[in-house]
Amino acid sequence: MGNLAELGERQKDMQGMRPWFLEQARRHNSAITQIFLGPFAKPAILLSDFREVNDILSHRDAVDFKRGKKVDVFSGILPHAHPAMETLDPRFRESRDLVRDLMAPSFLHTMTANGRPFDVVNDIVEFSFDSILSAATGLGSEGGDIKRQLSYLHCLEDTGTCTFQPDSIKGEVTKGFYMPWPRVYHAINNLRPSVRHAGQTLRGYIESQITRAIPRLNRGGGPECALDYVIGRELKAAQKAGREPMLDDPRVRDEIYGYLIAGHDTSTGSFIWLMRRLLSHPEEQTKICENLQETYPTAWAERQLIKQAPYLVAFLEEVLRLNCPVVTIMVQTRMDTVVLGHAVPRDTQVFLNLTGPSLNMPSVSVEETSRSKTSQTYEPTRHSWDDLDPEVFRPERWLRKDAEGKWVFDAASGPTLAFSAGNRGCWGKRLGQLELRIVFTIPIWSAKFNVHEKHVSWETYDTLVTAPKQCLMSLTEVQ
Ligand code: HEM
Repeated sequence: MGNLAELGERQKDMQGMRPWFLEQARRHNSAITQIFLGPFAKPAILLSDFREVNDILSHRDAVDFKRGKKVDVFSGILPHAHPAMETLDPRFRESRDLVRDLMAPSFLHTMTANGRPFDVVNDIVEFSFDSILSAATGLGSEGGDIKRQLSYLHCLEDTGTCTFQPDSIKGEVTKGFYMPWPRVYHAINNLRPSVRHAGQTLRGYIESQITRAIPRLNRGGGPECALDYVIGRELKAAQKAGREPMLDDPRVRDEIYGYLIAGHDTSTGSFIWLMRRLLSHPEEQTKICENLQETYPTAWAERQLIKQAPYLVAFLEEVLRLNCPVVTIMVQTRMDTVVLGHAVPRDTQVFLNLTGPSLNMPSVSVEETSRSKTSQTYEPTRHSWDDLDPEVFRPERWLRKDAEGKWVFDAASGPTLAFSAGNRGCWGKRLGQLELRIVFTIPIWSAKFNVHEKHVSWETYDTLVTAPKQCLMSLTEVQ
């Protein structure tokens, strides 16, 4: 059974499997360890070192590494979207080009201009789904989960009896990662009536949003969401070429679906961590509020949050460094290669820790000569947080003074990999960061959050991300 027995025990104890991946380097005093994930599985490699992980992601993808199993997992659900393609696949560039406008600052800024403790996890899940759905396709006149929940609350107030049925379109990706043959798993799973129904609902929803958008865009209306941008581009291209627009292109549907899948769990997990940290460091709320007031003295009235408040950004960065929602990712070797001086055969799965030693724990020492050539060439100024208490929550580590003596956020202060790195790092990073900044600022500005120590729980759940299971809080409105 290899390491599966131990991992199974962890799951039984409700501890989650992910911390196990972060412990192995210290346990074996080596940044590279071999792991065995099942009786018939080939041995895999686990890497826990910022510099080498960053090097594989930034310089060795499509050289001696590939996406491997991840492509199979996504192919079963969104075969025409770029996350389901190897970097060397000729379709990869074309599909990513279709959505290339969607992380441009011009798009992002239009999308975003417009008593007793209670558990906020479900509220965050629903709110975050609404915000990613509204950026992707627009919410439409029916609104989203939050609108449905508000109607339920109003109805409850009026009549005293009402039922609320949460209903939203969410994908099933996580299970695929745990299957030995994800393509076979998806081929069978996609035949299940509930999965077919979910697929039809999603296709129907995206098609209805396309149908709604066309007349408005043809009348010269501006794009209101990501889908509008993609349709607008195709309408123009078709007009120019004198042909009918091809709006039933499965790539459009899958890219938008991919946007929802990749953007929802990750933003939700990050936001729950932000709230959890805010509650366990109450002094941070005062510091963030002071910095917001200083940065946006007039902006609040105008709802303009485009300018960055350095302390807020440092707080977000520090939460994602310490509580990185995506703990470990997987790649595969394309050919026989060498990692930290060890020969690794072709088609070996390599797990890369995006947190743990050198990122939020003391690093495990690595011989410089064992590093790859590119890793030695692109040596970062700081490889680890070893000299700055890596395990301590300290947003100030991301701040420095500029020439005028003002605090500025410096992303190059040290290592973090919350959004992965390189060409296949997070495609939605800019939207994710902007969304977190905005959704975090608004409640902080309007309320004071509290929680009693006895209600603090650090227990986590594992899906695509790892995040707290519970986030109890009470709040007082700020006058
Ligand atoms: C704030 C929260 C977010 C975090 C922490 C995050 C983190 C990550 C990470 C670690 C990866 C690499 C996964 C891997 O290689 O296995 C990734 C990939 C990706 N992310 Fe994000 N993400 C966030 C938000 C978003 C949003 C809002 C979107 C879309 C609108 C998005 C779209 C994507 C896509 C499409 C990929 C795959 C890129 C590719 O295969 O080339 N992410 N993200």
